[in-house]
Amino acid sequence: MEAKRALSRAVKRLKTSPAIDHWQKGRERIEAEDLLMHVLGYEPEPDDELSGKQRRRFEALVDRRMSGEPIPYIKGYADFRGIEILTRPGVFVPRDSSEFLAEQAIRRLRRRKHPVCVDLATGGGTIALAVADEVPTAVVWGTDIAGDAVKLARKNAKALGLRAKFGIGDMFEPLPKRLRASVDVVTVHPPYVPAGEIDDLPDEVRDWEPAHTLTDRSTDGLGLIGRTVAESPWWLRPNGWLLMEVSPDRVKEVKRVYSAGGFRDVQSTKGGELKVTRVVVGRRPR
Ligand SMILES: C[S@@+](CC[C@H](N)C(=O)[O-])C[C@H]1O[C@@H](n2cnc3c(N)ncnc32)[C@H](O)[C@@H]1O
Repeated sequence: MEAKRALSRAVKRLKTSPAIDHWQKGRERIEAEDLLMHVLGYEPEPDDELSGKQRRRFEALVDRRMSGEPIPYIKGYADFRGIEILTRPGVFVPRDSSEFLAEQAIRRLRRRKHPVCVDLATGGGTIALAVADEVPTAVVWGTDIAGDAVKLARKNAKALGLRAKFGIGDMFEPLPKRLRASVDVVTVHPPYVPAGEIDDLPDEVRDWEPAHTLTDRSTDGLGLIGRTVAESPWWLRPNGWLLMEVSPDRVKEVKRVYSAGGFRDVQSTKGGELKVTRVVVGRRPR
């Protein structure tokens, strides 16, 4: 079978899957192409003939995607700002939107003399490792409450040959005390879905990602957000930044939490592929 025929069959099938969130036009084609490239190991020409084995393997991967399984779990990794982050079920799937959070951290850290970055709720280490890759002089720490996530983050650091340290525990708790008042940038993509809204999430998120990666179980979803704002001034250096990724509909209230916590230069920034407002930034209170 030719690649173009295998692809158009896969796209048709993916479009019919009720387990997939069809929020973006053309997403099914992008995903089918991604899976076919994963099977072949190269980008095929439309007329390239697939062997029987390649076609069966491709169809099996499309079946998995049809069930809602996220592509990074199927492939075993996600591409993030030019590095490959290993993924595994039970650990949050890196989001393309977080590339914009990482970019803003990197831009600020490059201007600092001895840059120090802490990535809270680091998952598989995605943002911390992008920072370590692009600001090699930086001291980078990541923390996560989930042992599986931190284990994967350490594995990722080793596989990529990057210098970043990871600790298991609640928010800032695993960090060495010597980092107090020395951090230039804190990044965080916290779980922020209000407890009562978990059931409204797309199936492919709710059914595949563990609840503790999505919600802190507070009714307003602001539990960990409020704690981060309250605790980060102890760790940030004067003029250090707290950068937080949230969904566009939470931006206004998160800005209010920052301002109530005394943060200065509070702004929401628009960017990423979709050009939506997702990252709230603010400087440490004086
Ligand atoms: C939305 S995910 C972000 C993952 C990661 N930043 C990424 O981009 O892939 C939220 C993460 O917060 C972690 N988490 C939940 N509660 C936490 C806590 N109290 N302290 C530290 N991490 C926590 C979860 O284990 C999960 O990995």
